[in-house]
Formats: sequence, structure tokens, C-alpha cells
Amino acid sequence: MATVSRSIGGLAVSAIGLGEWPLSDTGRPGRSAAIATIRAALEAGVTLIDTADAYCTDHTEFGHGEELVAEAVGGRDDVLVASKAGCTRQHGSWGLDGSPEYLRRACDASLRRLGVEAIGLYQLHAPDPSVPLSESAGALGELMDAGKIRMVGMSNVDTSQIREANEALGGRLASVQNEFSPRVRTSLPELELCERLGIAFLPYSPLGGVGAANRLGGAFAEVGERHGVSPQQVCLAWELALSPVVIPIPGSRRPSTIRDSAAAMRLRLSEEDLNTLDKE
Ligand SMILES: NC(=O)c1ccc[n+]([C@@H]2O[C@H](COP(=O)([O-])OP(=O)(O)OC[C@H]3O[C@@H](n4cnc5c(N)ncnc54)[C@H](OP(=O)(O)O)[C@@H]3O)[C@@H](O)[C@H]2O)c1
Repeated sequence: MATVSRSIGGLAVSAIGLGEWPLSDTGRPGRSAAIATIRAALEAGVTLIDTADAYCTDHTEFGHGEELVAEAVGGRDDVLVASKAGCTRQHGSWGLDGSPEYLRRACDASLRRLGVEAIGLYQLHAPDPSVPLSESAGALGELMDAGKIRMVGMSNVDTSQIREANEALGGRLASVQNEFSPRVRTSLPELELCERLGIAFLPYSPLGGVGAANRLGGAFAEVGERHGVSPQQVCLAWELALSPVVIPIPGSRRPSTIRDSAAAMRLRLSEEDLNTLDKE
């Protein structure tokens, strides 16, 4: 099926990506079912897969998500694999380490797991309050200069952090990944700043998150009925309509849900649809 493209740092990627997290953390499907879900995404025209070294159940299997993606993607060079560093999973709990030494080590480990010479998009998972953001971003900039990363992104950042990171990177910040969905719209100022700066904005948990995605109803269901599509597809198309820099990355545990989500690339909402959704 035809892929509708958007851009990250000048590189064309599908307008809908796949968020890999639910395939690696608690409640995940078996390995072959997880691989089948990623391959279903690729077959549906998805060319952006978002993962992280911390997508696993605990430190004993750190990097689970990256290894899974590497196996499923199989070295295809038309697919942008986006990973992240800066979060730890000691005994399953989430921690932060944004120190340059940690990020350099994490990058080498991710390169090995992904089996690539350079990581397509490498994102700081979240700022570490004990490390100046300019130092974390600067370390990622140096990794880019060394050819280990092609593009740098930031996640869980506010508008001043976006400006600070972009400055530390000499204006080369390619993407911002923040939570954004009909339920959680607090990152609208960050989305608008990204549009002004020409930075891709990747809404995470774009359907409201695992456990909430199937509760999308109301106006999303009403517009879905008009088009004969799911409320989730309408939700993703609504996010795409907010700005040309938006690239949602819905998570999936099953081929059928990512196939349905990927079709949102081609769903065009009318003014009437958008007015209906505005009232939600
Ligand atoms: N940077 C960060 O700090 C951060 C934090 C959270 C998430 N993320 C990223 O964002 C990605 C997406 O977020 P998320 O997984 O938390 O939440 P989400 O995408 O809002 O929701 C995922 C859930 O939506 C369901 N779903 C997906 N497409 C559907 C469809 N078309 N119809 C019905 N249900 C559908 C999936 O169901 P099934 O499981 O049944 O397939 C899955 O359980 C993550 O995978 C991760 O890559 C990043």
C-alpha cells in the first residue's frame, strides 16, 4: 500500500511509525508474534520504528526491544530505526542517567544490538535533572560528529529544553518525542515550537496509552462511522492534521492493530470532521 511520507531531519519516513515498547515490556506477546507485528507494520508501509535500549522488563534483558527490531527489520536500509538512551531499568524500575560517559557506552551497546554502523535517530529518553541538558545533548552531538548517529532527538522535553538542546547541537535537533493524545494535550506548546523550528514532533502514547487506546469513543467514533474506520484511525489522522511536523508512533502488540493504525496515513479528514473533533 502507498506510503504517505513526512520528514525527520530531511529524511522521508512514513507519516505513521510503530512504537515498539508494548512488544518488550510486561504483557508482551511471544517473540515470533512480536516479530510478526513489526513485519506487519513494514508490509503496511511503515518505515519508522521507535524503540529504546530500556524497552525490556528489567536490567537482565536490557536492549530486548533493539534486538527484536534488528531481527524483524533485517538490515532494510529504507527503514529508520529510532532508539533512545538515558533510562535505566534496574530490577525493572525506571531510572535516569544522562551523563556523557553513560550515553557514550549506551550508544556503543545499541550499535552492537542493532547491528548497524550508525543509528538512524538516537534520542535522549528524558532529561536527567542531575546532568545539565546541554551536556547530555552535547554528548549526542559528539556521537553524531563521530558518525555513530545520523540524527539526534529529544524526548520528554519542554519548550525551554527544546531550545537548549537545539542550541547545544548547533541547530541540528531533528525530533522531539513527547506524550500527546486527545487525553493528554499538554505538549501542544512543544508541538507548535517544533513546527516553527522545522523539528519533527513524534506524539507518544498517541492513542492514550496501552489500556486506554480501546476506550477512544465520542467524536472519534462518530467521525469513524462517517468514514467506515476505527476511532483509533481517526485519532491518528486528527494528530496528523494538527501540523505537517507530526508523526505519531502508535504501539501495537498485534498485526491487526498496526495495520489499522498505518491506514491513518491515507485518511483525509474534512473540515466538518475536524470541527466535530474540536468539540471533543
Ligand atoms: N519517550 C517516552 O518516554 C515514551 C513513553 C511511552 C511510549 N513511548 C513510545 O510511544 C509508543 C506508543 O505509545 P504506547 O504504546 O504507550 O501507547 P498507544 O500507542 O497510545 O497505545 C498502544 C495500544 O493501542 C492499541 N492500538 C494500537 N493501534 C490500534 C488500533 N488501530 N485500534 C485499536 N487499538 C489500537 C494497541 O493494542 P494491541 O496491544 O492490542 O495491539 C496497544 O495496546 C510506545 O510504543 C513507545 O515506542 C515513548
